Amino acid sequence: MVHAIGIDIGGTGIKGALVDTDSGQLLSERLKQATPPGGEPDDIVAVVKTILGQVGSAGADVPIGICFPAVVRDGRTMSAANVSKKWIGLAAEQLFERSLDRDITFVNDADAAGYAESEFGAAKDVDDLVIMTTLGTGIGSAIIYRNQLVPNAELGHIDIGDRHDYEKFAAYSAKERKDLTWKQWAGRLQEYYETLEKLFSPDLIIVGGGVSKHADEFMHFLKLKTPIVAATLRNNAGILGAAALAAHGSGDRPTRGAEQLVRSTSTNPPA
Ligand code: BGC
Repeated sequence: MVHAIGIDIGGTGIKGALVDTDSGQLLSERLKQATPPGGEPDDIVAVVKTILGQVGSAGADVPIGICFPAVVRDGRTMSAANVSKKWIGLAAEQLFERSLDRDITFVNDADAAGYAESEFGAAKDVDDLVIMTTLGTGIGSAIIYRNQLVPNAELGHIDIGDRHDYEKFAAYSAKERKDLTWKQWAGRLQEYYETLEKLFSPDLIIVGGGVSKHADEFMHFLKLKTPIVAATLRNNAGILGAAALAAHGSGDRPTRGAEQLVRSTSTNPPA
């Protein structure tokens, strides 16, 4: 059994657990802390350290994968929609590695979630074009084609009609902020998914993020030509994907997409 630790940093919460990366099962309790207000780099690193301490089992040989809500290129965070702007251009992977005194795998959060769904979840046996979306503080997205991830898709920030940066209008946080009913919110999502459908002609759309546990409340309002399903792994997808990428990408198991994704987003590509 291959063990790895996955940490999922979000705009609202930071979660982590020990994972069996062969089966995609959590092996520890899922630990969660609030993202520190302002989302400053040092504060987030400190929370990650605390969670790693609580997860335990963090021997030097246990791979650690951390996913983050920003474009990640060569270990640098290149955007910061829901965290401090100090992350933009920051050598984030290096910051975590210095502070934890060990190597990590560092990727975008929606890419991690999409990878997990493709390895263990709703896209496991789907061989065509899959778009995974996470509805939370923002809207994250992952494009998976024939089980290969195309990293750093940022489909939450598209403009639709005269609405700029659609995640501000349709993320789950917008539903909460505006106190929208499920039906009202689904109307916003309908327009969003119709647009993705028009742009990409996907074979499957997956709806993830914490709100996917309430899929019964809103998914039936969505009328699309494309099959659209709730994420099987619910809100654990980021943790599972980050852990799996750390384990698979570090050469423990050659796998679909992991090597490619890690190579394009990390300063520590597999040998
Ligand atoms: C960020 C993405 C992230 C998504 C979900 C967006 O605001 O730009 O990188 O994947 O939020 O956290």
